[in-house]
This record gives sequence, C-alpha cells and structure tokens, in this order.
Amino acid sequence: MARIAIVYHSGYGHTARQATSVHDGAASVPGVTAQLIPVSDVDRHWDDLAAADAVVFGAPTYMGSLSAAFKEFMEKSSKVWAAQGWKDKLAAGFTNSASQSGDKLNSLVELVIFASQHGMLWVSLGLLPGNNTSKGSDDDLNRLGSYTGAMAQSNADQGADAMRDSDLGTAAHLGRRVAELALRLR
Ligand SMILES: Cc1cc2nc3c(=O)[nH]c(=O)nc-3n(C[C@H](O)[C@H](O)[C@H](O)COP(=O)(O)O)c2cc1C
Repeated sequence: MARIAIVYHSGYGHTARQATSVHDGAASVPGVTAQLIPVSDVDRHWDDLAAADAVVFGAPTYMGSLSAAFKEFMEKSSKVWAAQGWKDKLAAGFTNSASQSGDKLNSLVELVIFASQHGMLWVSLGLLPGNNTSKGSDDDLNRLGSYTGAMAQSNADQGADAMRDSDLGTAAHLGRRVAELALRLR
C-alpha cells in the first residue's frame, strides 16, 4: 500500500481540476490511496503529509512564479524542513497558466528546489513532448513539451470546464507515474 498526497492551490478552479486529474491518475493504481489537500486546509493535514509516501505539489503560475497562497504553504513547511520530515519521500509537481509558456517552467523549477530543500526525490514527468512535429496536435499528451512536471494551459477568458483533455491526461499520467514509483519504493 502506498499513500500519495496532492497539495495544491487554485485561485479560479483551473489548477484544482488539474490536481483532480493527478489524484485520479494516482488512485487508479491498485494498492494506492490518493488524497487532495488544498493549501487552505493544510493545517488539518500535516499528519497526512507525514504519512504520505509521495507528495505532488501544484499551483497556478502567477506573475511567472508559484502563486502567493502556495508560497505561504511552502514557508509554513519550514518546521517540517527543520526536522527533514519529508526526507526521501517522492515529490513531483504541476502548474497551469493562461499562456502557452507564461513562464510556467520557472514555477516547476521552484518546486524542484522546494522539494530538494526538503530532501525529497523528484519524479519527472516521464513523457516525451507532444505537438512538436507536423503530425502533432494540441490533443497530444504533454502538448506543452515539459520534462520537469505536468503543465496545463487554460485560456484566460474560459472556465475550468474548458480545459483540454490532453492537459488533464498529462496530469493523470504524472499521478500514475508517482503512484507506481511509490509502490516500487515500498
Ligand atoms: C495575479 C495573476 C498573475 C498571472 N500571471 C500569469 C503568468 O505569469 N503567466 C501566465 O501565463 N498566466 C498568468 N496568469 C493567468 C493564470 O495562470 C491562469 O488564469 C490560470 O488558469 C489560473 O489558474 P487557477 O484558476 O487555478 O487560479 C495570471 C493570473 C493572475 C490572477
């Protein structure tokens, strides 16, 4: 049995939908339980994070960086950092923004550094890039061509219901990959 926690922030619901796909991908693996934890509720869930085998972090990209609400969670986690309480857990990350790039990579790099400060083991996306040949399309998994984590792009004038299946499938892939690796590590 392996436990996966997904800690995320979402101001307007898009990243929450991405987080749900990560959760569903992880929960689809037999022998794995997955738990969604919005950063607004994290104070009720520090014990769940301590018990998790893997933690997947996610936030929207705001001003080229992780959202402020997520950063508040990062700073709150400094007590755990001091005790290296998450050392050797798996970590992975996802982000969503309005532009195709929108400087999303910076947010994932921030998550890599955050997880590394906690002594965690970073799990990459593990998908080749999609949509980068004449035969590709926006329907391809990993259409935004990330290696570090799962990216999604949501038009600024549309709600979360308009998010692309390819981005949600990419998020689900990351959840499955983390879950399978967590089981192997056990
Ligand atoms: C304060 C703010 C800053 C933003 N900065 C960026 C940005 O740097 N790059 C980008 O592509 N989109 C940016 N956006 C758009 C959001 O990333 C996009 O609307 C995203 O889908 C929001 O996710 P959420 O619904 O989970 O909050 C910004 C939005 C807000 C509110």
